[in-house]
Amino acid sequence: MRPARDFFAPLAVGAPPPLREIPARPSRAIHFFDPSNEKMAGKVPGMVGTVDVLLGNLEDAVKAANKEAAREGLVRIARDTAGLGGEGAATQLWTRVNALDSPWVLDDLTRLVTAAGDRLDVIMVPKVQGAEDIHYVDRLLAQLEAKAGLERPLMVHAILETARGMANVEEICGASPRMQGLSLGPADLAADRRMKTTRVGGGHPGYLVRQDPADGSAEAIAAPRTSYQQDLWHYTIARMVDACAMHGISAYYGPFGDIADTVACEDQFRNAFLLGCVGAWSLHPKQVEIAHRVFSPSPEDVAHARRVVAAMGDGTGAVMLDGKMEDDASLKQCLVMVELSEQLAA
Ligand code: GLV
Ligand code: MG
Repeated sequence: MRPARDFFAPLAVGAPPPLREIPARPSRAIHFFDPSNEKMAGKVPGMVGTVDVLLGNLEDAVKAANKEAAREGLVRIARDTAGLGGEGAATQLWTRVNALDSPWVLDDLTRLVTAAGDRLDVIMVPKVQGAEDIHYVDRLLAQLEAKAGLERPLMVHAILETARGMANVEEICGASPRMQGLSLGPADLAADRRMKTTRVGGGHPGYLVRQDPADGSAEAIAAPRTSYQQDLWHYTIARMVDACAMHGISAYYGPFGDIADTVACEDQFRNAFLLGCVGAWSLHPKQVEIAHRVFSPSPEDVAHARRVVAAMGDGTGAVMLDGKMEDDASLKQCLVMVELSEQLAA
Protein backbone atom coordinates (compact mmCIF):
# COMPACT_ATOMS: atom_id res chain seq x y z
CA MET A 1 0.00 0.00 0.00
CA ARG A 2 1.46 3.35 -0.96
CA PRO A 3 1.18 6.37 1.36
CA ALA A 4 -1.62 8.94 0.96
CA ARG A 5 0.58 11.13 -1.26
CA ASP A 6 3.97 10.34 -2.77
CA PHE A 7 5.99 13.43 -1.82
CA PHE A 8 8.95 12.31 -3.92
CA ALA A 9 6.98 12.04 -7.14
CA PRO A 10 7.40 14.99 -9.54
CA LEU A 11 4.50 17.44 -9.26
CA ALA A 12 2.18 16.91 -12.19
CA VAL A 13 0.31 19.78 -13.80
CA GLY A 14 -2.79 18.80 -15.77
CA ALA A 15 -3.07 15.35 -14.20
CA PRO A 16 -4.97 14.45 -11.05
CA PRO A 17 -2.79 13.64 -8.02
CA PRO A 18 -2.39 9.96 -7.18
CA LEU A 19 -5.29 8.78 -5.07
CA ARG A 20 -5.02 6.92 -1.82
CA GLU A 21 -4.29 3.32 -2.60
CA ILE A 22 -7.31 1.08 -2.27
CA PRO A 23 -6.53 -2.43 -1.00
CA ALA A 24 -5.06 -4.57 -3.74
CA ARG A 25 -7.51 -7.36 -2.89
CA PRO A 26 -11.21 -6.82 -2.22
CA SER A 27 -12.35 -7.15 1.40
CA ARG A 28 -16.00 -6.10 1.18
CA ALA A 29 -17.23 -8.95 3.38
CA ILE A 30 -15.14 -10.35 6.24
CA HIS A 31 -17.04 -13.52 7.11
CA PHE A 32 -16.52 -14.73 10.68
CA PHE A 33 -16.46 -18.42 11.61
CA ASP A 34 -15.64 -20.27 14.82
CA PRO A 35 -12.97 -22.88 13.98
CA SER A 36 -13.97 -24.92 17.08
CA ASN A 37 -17.51 -25.29 15.77
CA GLU A 38 -17.45 -28.33 13.48
CA LYS A 39 -20.58 -27.34 11.60
CA MET A 40 -19.26 -23.85 10.82
CA ALA A 41 -15.74 -25.07 10.07
CA GLY A 42 -17.15 -27.71 7.72
CA LYS A 43 -18.70 -24.98 5.58
CA VAL A 44 -15.41 -23.14 5.06
CA PRO A 45 -14.10 -25.06 2.00
CA GLY A 46 -17.43 -24.51 0.22
CA MET A 47 -17.22 -20.74 0.82
CA VAL A 48 -13.77 -20.32 -0.74
CA GLY A 49 -14.13 -18.20 -3.87
CA THR A 50 -17.60 -16.96 -2.84
CA VAL A 51 -16.51 -14.44 -0.21
CA ASP A 52 -13.67 -11.90 -0.17
CA VAL A 53 -12.38 -12.78 3.32
CA LEU A 54 -12.89 -15.72 5.69
CA LEU A 55 -11.91 -14.93 9.30
CA GLY A 56 -11.22 -17.62 11.89
CA ASN A 57 -12.42 -16.04 15.13
CA LEU A 58 -10.60 -16.95 18.34
CA GLU A 59 -11.91 -14.12 20.57
CA ASP A 60 -15.38 -13.20 21.88
CA ALA A 61 -18.17 -15.66 20.96
CA VAL A 62 -15.70 -18.56 21.39
CA LYS A 63 -16.11 -20.15 24.83
CA ALA A 64 -13.07 -20.11 27.13
CA ALA A 65 -13.10 -23.91 27.17
CA ASN A 66 -12.87 -23.97 23.35
CA LYS A 67 -10.01 -21.50 22.85
CA GLU A 68 -7.41 -24.17 22.17
CA ALA A 69 -9.71 -26.17 19.93
CA ALA A 70 -10.45 -23.00 17.93
CA ARG A 71 -6.74 -22.23 17.51
CA GLU A 72 -5.90 -25.78 16.41
CA GLY A 73 -8.98 -25.92 14.18
CA LEU A 74 -7.82 -22.77 12.42
CA VAL A 75 -4.32 -24.18 11.88
CA ARG A 76 -5.89 -27.28 10.27
CA ILE A 77 -8.22 -25.24 8.07
CA ALA A 78 -5.38 -22.95 6.97
CA ARG A 79 -3.18 -25.91 6.03
CA ASP A 80 -5.84 -28.07 4.38
CA THR A 81 -8.13 -25.68 2.50
CA ALA A 82 -7.16 -25.11 -1.12
CA GLY A 83 -7.53 -21.54 -2.41
CA LEU A 84 -7.75 -20.03 1.07
CA GLY A 85 -5.20 -17.44 2.22
CA GLY A 86 -1.74 -16.50 1.06
CA GLU A 87 -0.44 -15.00 -2.18
CA GLY A 88 -3.00 -15.01 -5.00
CA ALA A 89 -5.64 -17.04 -3.09
CA ALA A 90 -9.28 -16.83 -4.19
CA THR A 91 -10.33 -15.86 -0.66
CA GLN A 92 -8.16 -14.19 1.95
CA LEU A 93 -7.70 -15.82 5.36
CA TRP A 94 -7.75 -13.52 8.38
CA THR A 95 -7.93 -14.31 12.07
CA ARG A 96 -9.12 -12.40 15.14
CA VAL A 97 -6.83 -13.31 18.01
CA ASN A 98 -7.70 -12.89 21.67
CA ALA A 99 -7.18 -9.55 23.41
CA LEU A 100 -3.67 -8.52 24.41
CA ASP A 101 -4.57 -8.72 28.12
CA SER A 102 -5.93 -12.27 27.82
CA PRO A 103 -4.12 -15.50 28.78
CA TRP A 104 -4.53 -16.86 25.22
CA VAL A 105 -3.08 -14.29 22.85
CA LEU A 106 0.60 -15.22 23.12
CA ASP A 107 -0.20 -18.82 22.18
CA ASP A 108 -2.60 -17.65 19.45
CA LEU A 109 0.09 -15.61 17.71
CA THR A 110 2.95 -18.04 18.30
CA ARG A 111 1.07 -21.09 17.08
CA LEU A 112 -0.68 -19.49 14.12
CA VAL A 113 2.33 -17.69 12.70
CA THR A 114 4.73 -20.59 13.07
CA ALA A 115 2.29 -23.28 11.88
CA ALA A 116 0.26 -21.45 9.23
CA GLY A 117 1.79 -17.99 8.76
CA ASP A 118 2.20 -18.49 5.00
CA ARG A 119 -1.58 -18.92 4.64
CA LEU A 120 -2.65 -16.02 6.86
CA ASP A 121 -3.12 -12.58 5.38
CA VAL A 122 -4.27 -10.30 8.20
CA ILE A 123 -4.30 -10.55 12.00
CA MET A 124 -7.18 -8.67 13.61
CA VAL A 125 -6.33 -7.40 17.09
CA PRO A 126 -9.28 -6.57 19.36
CA LYS A 127 -9.61 -3.82 21.98
CA VAL A 128 -6.56 -1.87 20.78
CA GLN A 129 -5.98 1.08 23.12
CA GLY A 130 -3.03 2.90 21.59
CA ALA A 131 0.11 2.71 19.45
CA GLU A 132 1.89 0.67 22.15
CA ASP A 133 -0.44 -2.29 21.49
CA ILE A 134 0.39 -2.26 17.80
CA HIS A 135 4.14 -1.88 18.54
CA TYR A 136 3.97 -4.99 20.72
CA VAL A 137 2.19 -7.06 18.06
CA ASP A 138 4.48 -5.72 15.33
CA ARG A 139 7.63 -6.74 17.22
CA LEU A 140 6.29 -10.16 18.15
CA LEU A 141 5.20 -10.84 14.55
CA ALA A 142 8.64 -9.87 13.26
CA GLN A 143 10.24 -12.41 15.63
CA LEU A 144 7.77 -15.14 14.76
CA GLU A 145 8.03 -14.49 11.02
CA ALA A 146 11.82 -14.77 11.25
CA LYS A 147 11.50 -18.02 13.22
CA ALA A 148 9.06 -19.45 10.68
CA GLY A 149 11.12 -18.24 7.70
CA LEU A 150 8.18 -16.31 6.26
CA GLU A 151 8.93 -13.99 3.37
CA ARG A 152 5.66 -12.08 3.29
CA PRO A 153 4.89 -9.81 6.27
CA LEU A 154 1.58 -10.36 8.04
CA MET A 155 -0.68 -7.33 8.12
CA VAL A 156 -2.44 -6.03 11.24
CA HIS A 157 -6.02 -4.83 11.59
CA ALA A 158 -7.18 -3.10 14.81
CA ILE A 159 -10.71 -3.10 16.22
CA LEU A 160 -11.79 0.24 17.59
CA GLU A 161 -13.83 -0.71 20.61
CA THR A 162 -12.73 1.31 23.61
CA ALA A 163 -13.02 5.01 24.39
CA ARG A 164 -9.24 5.12 24.81
CA GLY A 165 -8.73 3.49 21.42
CA MET A 166 -11.04 6.12 19.91
CA ALA A 167 -9.04 8.92 21.53
CA ASN A 168 -5.84 7.43 20.06
CA VAL A 169 -7.25 6.46 16.68
CA GLU A 170 -4.76 8.46 14.58
CA GLU A 171 -1.68 7.10 16.36
CA ILE A 172 -3.07 3.54 16.08
CA CYS A 173 -3.44 3.90 12.30
CA GLY A 174 0.14 5.17 11.94
CA ALA A 175 1.77 2.82 14.47
CA SER A 176 3.26 0.35 11.97
CA PRO A 177 3.63 -0.17 8.23
CA ARG A 178 1.80 -3.45 8.87
CA MET A 179 -1.43 -1.56 9.57
CA GLN A 180 -4.00 -2.70 7.03
CA GLY A 181 -7.17 -1.18 8.48
CA LEU A 182 -9.56 -0.54 11.33
CA SER A 183 -13.02 -1.88 12.15
CA LEU A 184 -15.70 -0.42 14.34
CA GLY A 185 -16.45 -2.75 17.29
CA PRO A 186 -19.87 -1.39 18.24
CA ALA A 187 -20.74 -3.84 21.04
CA ASP A 188 -17.61 -3.36 23.14
CA LEU A 189 -17.40 0.33 22.29
CA ALA A 190 -21.02 0.92 23.35
CA ALA A 191 -20.34 -0.80 26.68
CA ASP A 192 -17.09 1.10 27.27
CA ARG A 193 -18.78 4.43 26.54
CA ARG A 194 -21.86 3.52 28.61
CA MET A 195 -24.07 3.92 25.54
CA LYS A 196 -27.50 2.23 25.73
CA THR A 197 -27.87 0.00 22.70
CA THR A 198 -29.98 -3.10 22.18
CA ARG A 199 -28.57 -4.67 19.02
CA VAL A 200 -24.95 -4.92 17.89
CA GLY A 201 -24.12 -2.26 15.30
CA GLY A 202 -27.73 -1.15 14.97
CA GLY A 203 -29.63 2.03 15.79
CA HIS A 204 -32.12 2.66 18.59
CA PRO A 205 -35.69 3.95 18.20
CA GLY A 206 -35.18 6.21 21.21
CA TYR A 207 -32.28 8.09 19.56
CA LEU A 208 -34.22 10.62 17.52
CA VAL A 209 -34.74 14.27 16.71
CA ARG A 210 -38.26 15.68 16.86
CA GLN A 211 -39.65 18.56 14.86
CA ASP A 212 -39.87 21.83 16.86
CA PRO A 213 -43.33 22.69 18.27
CA ALA A 214 -45.37 25.26 16.29
CA ASP A 215 -45.12 27.57 19.33
CA GLY A 216 -44.39 27.35 23.04
CA SER A 217 -47.96 26.48 24.09
CA ALA A 218 -48.76 23.28 25.95
CA GLU A 219 -51.09 22.25 23.07
CA ALA A 220 -48.34 22.65 20.46
CA ILE A 221 -45.87 20.70 22.60
CA ALA A 222 -48.41 17.88 23.09
CA ALA A 223 -49.46 17.85 19.40
CA PRO A 224 -48.15 15.02 17.18
CA ARG A 225 -44.85 16.00 15.59
CA THR A 226 -42.62 14.23 13.10
CA SER A 227 -39.48 12.62 14.53
CA TYR A 228 -36.61 10.87 12.78
CA GLN A 229 -34.37 8.18 14.19
CA GLN A 230 -30.68 9.18 14.04
CA ASP A 231 -27.59 7.09 13.39
CA LEU A 232 -25.81 6.29 16.66
CA TRP A 233 -22.61 5.43 14.81
CA HIS A 234 -22.14 8.37 12.48
CA TYR A 235 -19.54 10.25 14.55
CA THR A 236 -17.48 7.13 15.18
CA ILE A 237 -17.45 5.97 11.56
CA ALA A 238 -16.60 9.45 10.26
CA ARG A 239 -13.76 9.82 12.77
CA MET A 240 -12.41 6.35 11.94
CA VAL A 241 -12.57 7.03 8.18
CA ASP A 242 -10.60 10.28 8.57
CA ALA A 243 -7.88 8.59 10.62
CA CYS A 244 -7.61 5.71 8.12
CA ALA A 245 -7.56 8.03 5.09
CA MET A 246 -4.84 10.13 6.68
CA HIS A 247 -2.64 7.03 6.97
CA GLY A 248 -3.64 5.38 3.69
CA ILE A 249 -5.31 2.35 5.30
CA SER A 250 -8.85 0.96 5.05
CA ALA A 251 -11.91 1.49 7.27
CA TYR A 252 -14.60 -1.19 7.90
CA TYR A 253 -18.05 -1.03 9.47
CA GLY A 254 -17.75 -4.08 11.76
CA PRO A 255 -20.67 -6.35 12.76
CA PHE A 256 -24.44 -6.00 12.50
CA GLY A 257 -25.86 -8.46 15.03
CA ASP A 258 -29.58 -8.55 14.18
CA ILE A 259 -29.24 -11.25 11.52
CA ALA A 260 -32.97 -11.30 10.67
CA ASP A 261 -33.06 -7.54 9.93
CA THR A 262 -31.38 -7.59 6.54
CA VAL A 263 -32.89 -4.22 5.66
CA ALA A 264 -31.28 -2.30 8.54
CA CYS A 265 -28.04 -4.23 8.01
CA GLU A 266 -27.96 -3.03 4.41
CA ASP A 267 -28.69 0.56 5.52
CA GLN A 268 -25.83 0.57 8.03
CA PHE A 269 -23.42 -0.98 5.53
CA ARG A 270 -24.47 1.50 2.80
CA ASN A 271 -24.02 4.49 5.13
CA ALA A 272 -20.52 3.21 5.90
CA PHE A 273 -19.75 2.74 2.18
CA LEU A 274 -20.94 6.27 1.39
CA LEU A 275 -18.78 7.68 4.22
CA GLY A 276 -15.65 5.94 2.91
CA CYS A 277 -15.52 2.40 4.34
CA VAL A 278 -14.44 -0.48 2.07
CA GLY A 279 -16.23 -3.39 3.80
CA ALA A 280 -18.00 -4.82 6.85
CA TRP A 281 -18.09 -8.01 8.89
CA SER A 282 -20.50 -10.79 8.06
CA LEU A 283 -21.88 -12.95 10.87
CA HIS A 284 -24.18 -15.03 8.67
CA PRO A 285 -23.91 -16.12 5.01
CA LYS A 286 -26.82 -13.83 4.08
CA GLN A 287 -24.75 -10.81 5.15
CA VAL A 288 -22.02 -11.76 2.66
CA GLU A 289 -24.28 -10.97 -0.30
CA ILE A 290 -25.34 -7.67 1.29
CA ALA A 291 -21.75 -6.56 1.91
CA HIS A 292 -20.49 -7.60 -1.55
CA ARG A 293 -23.31 -5.67 -3.21
CA VAL A 294 -23.26 -2.57 -1.00
CA PHE A 295 -19.48 -2.09 -1.03
CA SER A 296 -19.32 -2.31 -4.85
CA PRO A 297 -20.07 0.87 -6.78
CA SER A 298 -23.22 0.61 -8.91
CA PRO A 299 -22.76 0.32 -12.72
CA GLU A 300 -24.68 3.63 -13.08
CA ASP A 301 -22.33 5.45 -10.72
CA VAL A 302 -19.29 4.02 -12.51
CA ALA A 303 -20.69 4.96 -15.94
CA HIS A 304 -21.32 8.52 -14.73
CA ALA A 305 -17.83 8.70 -13.23
CA ARG A 306 -16.29 7.58 -16.54
CA ARG A 307 -18.25 10.27 -18.40
CA VAL A 308 -16.88 12.95 -16.07
CA VAL A 309 -13.32 11.62 -16.45
CA ALA A 310 -13.67 11.70 -20.26
CA ALA A 311 -15.26 15.18 -20.23
CA MET A 312 -12.52 16.60 -17.99
CA GLY A 313 -9.79 15.95 -20.59
CA ASP A 314 -6.46 16.98 -19.05
CA GLY A 315 -8.06 17.05 -15.59
CA THR A 316 -8.11 20.83 -15.08
CA GLY A 317 -10.76 23.52 -15.46
CA ALA A 318 -14.51 23.07 -15.27
CA VAL A 319 -17.21 21.55 -17.51
CA MET A 320 -21.01 21.37 -17.34
CA LEU A 321 -22.51 17.87 -17.56
CA ASP A 322 -26.27 17.27 -17.19
CA GLY A 323 -26.60 20.71 -15.65
CA LYS A 324 -23.95 20.04 -13.00
CA MET A 325 -20.55 21.68 -12.64
CA GLU A 326 -17.59 19.28 -12.68
CA ASP A 327 -14.01 20.35 -11.97
CA ASP A 328 -10.63 19.10 -10.74
CA ALA A 329 -12.12 18.16 -7.35
CA SER A 330 -15.23 16.36 -8.60
CA LEU A 331 -12.96 14.52 -11.06
CA LYS A 332 -11.07 13.10 -8.07
CA GLN A 333 -14.35 11.85 -6.57
CA CYS A 334 -15.10 10.14 -9.88
CA LEU A 335 -11.65 8.55 -9.97
CA VAL A 336 -12.39 6.97 -6.57
CA MET A 337 -15.39 5.20 -8.17
CA VAL A 338 -13.51 4.18 -11.32
CA GLU A 339 -10.50 2.86 -9.39
CA LEU A 340 -12.74 0.91 -7.02
CA SER A 341 -14.66 -0.70 -9.89
CA GLU A 342 -11.40 -1.62 -11.65
CA GLN A 343 -9.96 -3.12 -8.49
CA LEU A 344 -13.08 -5.22 -7.92
CA ALA A 345 -13.10 -6.38 -11.54
CA ALA A 346 -9.41 -7.40 -11.45
C1 GLV B 1 -16.96 -6.49 18.07
O1 GLV B 1 -15.99 -7.07 18.45
C2 GLV B 1 -17.75 -5.64 18.91
O2 GLV B 1 -17.41 -5.53 20.10
O3 GLV B 1 -18.74 -5.08 18.40
MG1 MG C 1 -15.63 -6.71 20.54
